[in-house]
Parts: sequence; structure tokens; C-alpha cells
Amino acid sequence: MIRDGKIWVGNTEAGEPVYMLPKMANRHGLVAGATGTGKTITLKVLAESFSDMGVPVFLADVKGDIAGMINAGTDSEDMQKRIAKFGLNDYGFNFHNYPVTLWDVYGKNGIQVRTTITEIGPLLLSRILDLNEMQSDILAIVFKIADDNNLALIDTKDLKSMLNYVSENNKEFAAEYGKLSPQSLGAIQRAVVSLEIAGGDQFFGEPALDIRDWLTVGEQGRGMIHILDSQNLVSNGTLYSSFLLWMLSELFEIMPEVGDLDKPKMVFFFDEAHLLFKDMPKALLDKIEQVVKLIRSKGVGVYFITQNPRDIPNGVLAQLGNKVQHALHAYTPTEQKALKAAADSYRENPAFDTAEVIETLGTGEAVTSFLQEDGTPTMVEKVSVLPPQSRMGGVDEATRNNAIMGSMLYSKYANAVDPESAYELLQRIGAEKAEAAQKAKEEAEVAKAAAKEQAAKEKAAEREKEKEANRKKRAAKSVGTTVAGTVGREVGKTVGKKFGGKFGQTLGGNTGAQLFRGILNTLLK
Ligand SMILES: Nc1ncnc2c1ncn2[C@@H]1O[C@H](COP(=O)(O)OP(=O)(O)OP(=O)(O)O)[C@@H](O)[C@H]1O
Ligand SMILES: [Mg+2]
Repeated sequence: MIRDGKIWVGNTEAGEPVYMLPKMANRHGLVAGATGTGKTITLKVLAESFSDMGVPVFLADVKGDIAGMINAGTDSEDMQKRIAKFGLNDYGFNFHNYPVTLWDVYGKNGIQVRTTITEIGPLLLSRILDLNEMQSDILAIVFKIADDNNLALIDTKDLKSMLNYVSENNKEFAAEYGKLSPQSLGAIQRAVVSLEIAGGDQFFGEPALDIRDWLTVGEQGRGMIHILDSQNLVSNGTLYSSFLLWMLSELFEIMPEVGDLDKPKMVFFFDEAHLLFKDMPKALLDKIEQVVKLIRSKGVGVYFITQNPRDIPNGVLAQLGNKVQHALHAYTPTEQKALKAAADSYRENPAFDTAEVIETLGTGEAVTSFLQEDGTPTMVEKVSVLPPQSRMGGVDEATRNNAIMGSMLYSKYANAVDPESAYELLQRIGAEKAEAAQKAKEEAEVAKAAAKEQAAKEKAAEREKEKEANRKKRAAKSVGTTVAGTVGREVGKTVGKKFGGKFGQTLGGNTGAQLFRGILNTLLK
């Protein structure tokens, strides 16, 4: 509840109000305590106050008991006692519902939440796929190749074709991106298939959640309360925490730097926070620490809810300025150590021993410390937390369905679309390649046939030429014979006639003396 412009969390035993300052609400917080001690109710009380101030809120609903905020709280004898004890009627307490939008990554208990493979990023995806360090490095390179080649990774189909494409062209990519182990690529492929078999493919697709849709106010200027149904999701701890971390990093990315404001722009509650950090790789942990540190100046407050503060790594814990510690039981030495550590993280109150009080707190009671305007924590106080104005328990199916269908955002996210992305583009590239190969093959065949035909033609021409030459040769031979015969004969005849005649005459008509004279005459001429 808002009292004097501040978030009224509860009263001390002396009846003094205990406040959290809206101005310091971006300094993050912690709600811890054993099971059944009042954590969920406390976060409802806080969420209601933020909403009353017009600040949108995100909550993960792990047990289904947060969705009740969609209904007004119910009156009872016990409630009336509490209302009287806190004097709530003087401050406008009334049972009413809050503007709630229900979300669900499975699309059953809320509007479907989807994201794209690109948006979830290689770091979180590696965690979802349970990849080892080497495999996550390779996945990061596959993301880079996709990005460099304008291949959008929307869904698991895209990721699988991208992995295939990289495997098939491993040699070509090696020059620029280094050699990618085929075994690791195969292992990532198998992990994606396993995720699909487990139904994980429905988380990735379009339309992806636009976190800007969360930054809205509902009826009476109350900040919208976005509740992610996590009853199924939480059974896969890494998936649950990866989705929440993705949402946080999305918020981080879209929110502009604003510095310190009078009240936060949005508040993010992380229930079952121990799942978040369980077996978390160092790279991711570093990233979260950094996001938590920097998101503050973007006006976003992050509140972790868990059983024991030691579930939160020190680097994150140290940044949580607003703290509510419900009862902790300490039976074993380890539990006692944890209790002592929890108590020691508070600024001491000389009036009591913090550890002793934490151990003996009743349901709905807590020790608290909130940041003051100067940034220092208030002294630890024992506080009775206010009751919420909305319903404490869960919600029935009809109310849930009405809320889902009645939301203005339902139609935006209800139906998945399959845009042109890596899968389609790579299919097209593959088809074009095959077509080009086929065309080249056909062209080569045509060229081969043409060359064969040409060769045959040339051979035929050659043969023809040869034939012709032979023919000519033969013809020439026969002319030679004829000419030689004829000429020879003619010449022979003429010469024969001439000389033969003369000789014949000379020889025939004269004697030896005449022959001698004849020769002499010839010589003397
Ligand atoms: N501030 C409160 N005012 C009224 N009743 C409360 C308050 N806090 C807790 N309760 C009562 O205690 C019950 C258990 O509280 P709650 O569900 O918040 O515990 P929890 O710490 O979230 O438990 P778990 O770890 O199992 O989720 C509530 O259903 C409610 O009846
Ligand atoms: Mg709870």
C-alpha cells in the first residue's frame, strides 16, 4: 500500500510503519525465507504497491498462487483482525483486483511468450542446450556466421539448417572463422533435436515478445502486472532461468539510461532464484552481475525471491539494497552458519539479536532493512507484513481463460508466423545451387555433344579431303600415263620418223663412201 508517498510494507512490533522508498526501489532487493513463511504474500504486497504507483511489474508464478492477483482479495475473520491491527481502513485498504496480463511460454496458462534464437543469444542458448564450453564457443561462431551472412535465426529449424550449412561448408568457413570441430557441430545438432523433442521448439518463433508491451498502465493508472506462468517451466530449471534472464536482458537493452528517478520504470521479481544461479557458467554469472549492476540506472528494480540468501552469489547479493528476511530454520551446523550469515548482512539493531529473531519469526513476519535516501540501509527491524488487497491464492480456469482472451495483447501473440529466415534462405540457396549444378551439367553435355559432332564433321571433311587428294593423285597418274604414252608415242614417232627417215634415207640410199662424204660434209659445214 502507498502511505505518504512511500511503499508501506508492514509495522514494527511497536506499531511503527516500515517503508520502502520508491526512489530507492531501483536498488534491487531480496525476499528470503523457508517454505510457507510468507514470501509470496510479501511480493504480492510489494507488487501491488508498485502497481498503485503506476509502475509495471513482472512476476514469475512458480506455484500458480500469484495469478490470484487478477481477483479481489476475500474477506475473513482473520483478515478483519489484520485490517484492524494495522489500521488499514484509514489508508484506503479495500479488496480489489489488479490489472494483470498472464503469459506462458507453453501458450496454455497465458498468452504465448516466444523469442527468437538470435534474441536469446548463444550464451543462454548454450545453457538451455546444456553445451560444454567448446560447444558453446562453436555455437557463438555459428551465430556470427549467420549474422555476417544475413541469415536470421528465428526458430530451431533455422538453427538446424544453419548448423548443417556450416558443417557442409566447414572448409570454406575455416579460413575466416577457424576450424569448427565436426563432432561439436554434431553434438549441438543433437542437442537442438532433443530440445525439439521435449517441445522446446515452440518457445522460438515469431511474433517474439516485445518487452515494450510490458511497460504499460492498466485501469485507474495502475501499473500492469505481468505474470509468467512457470508451473511447468520451472521443472526445467535451466529453461526457466534462461527465459527470465532473457527477459531481464531484453529490458536492459531497450530501456534508456535515466539515472535515479522518483520511482522505478519497472520492477522485476525473480521467484525461485536459486534455480537461476544453479550450475551457472562463469561467463553467464558475470553477465548477470553486470546487468543487475547497470540496469539500476535504467530505472529497473530487480527482486530475487529464494529460500536462503546464500542461494544468491555474493556479487549479486551485495547489490540488493532492500531486504525482507522471513523465518529461517537452522537445525544443522551448516544451516546455523547460513542463518548467521543472513543475520550478519543486516545493520544491527541493539534491541535484539537478528539471528535469534529470524529463527523465531511467525508466518507473515520478517526482518527488514531498506535503503534510505542517502543510500545507507535502515537498521534491521522485526516487521509484520501487511496483507494484500488482491486474492492470496491462485485463480480458477474460467477466470484465467477470460483474462487471456480478454487481453489486448492476445491477438498480437496468439498465432505463430513463419517468416523467411535462415531455413528458407538456405533451402533456396541449396535449390539454386542444385539448379545451377544441373544446368552446368546439361550445358556440359550439350557442349560435349557439339564437340563430338564437330570432331566427326572434321574427320569426315578430312576423309573427304584425303579421298579427293587420292582421287586427284589417281587422276594425275592416269593423265601422266596417257600424256606420257601419247607424247612419248608421238615424240617417238616424230623422232623416229625424222631420224629414222633421214637415217633410213641416208643409210638406205648411200654406200660407205657416201656415208663418209656425208659425214665429212657435215663436219665441214
Ligand atoms: N502478510 C501476510 N498476511 C496474511 N497472511 C499471510 C501473510 N503472509 C503469509 N500469510 C499466510 O501464509 C501462507 C503462506 O504464505 P506464502 O505462500 O507467502 O509462503 P511462501 O514463503 O511463499 O511459501 P513457499 O516457499 O512454499 O512458496 C499464505 O497463504 C497466507 O495464508
Ligand atoms: Mg511462495
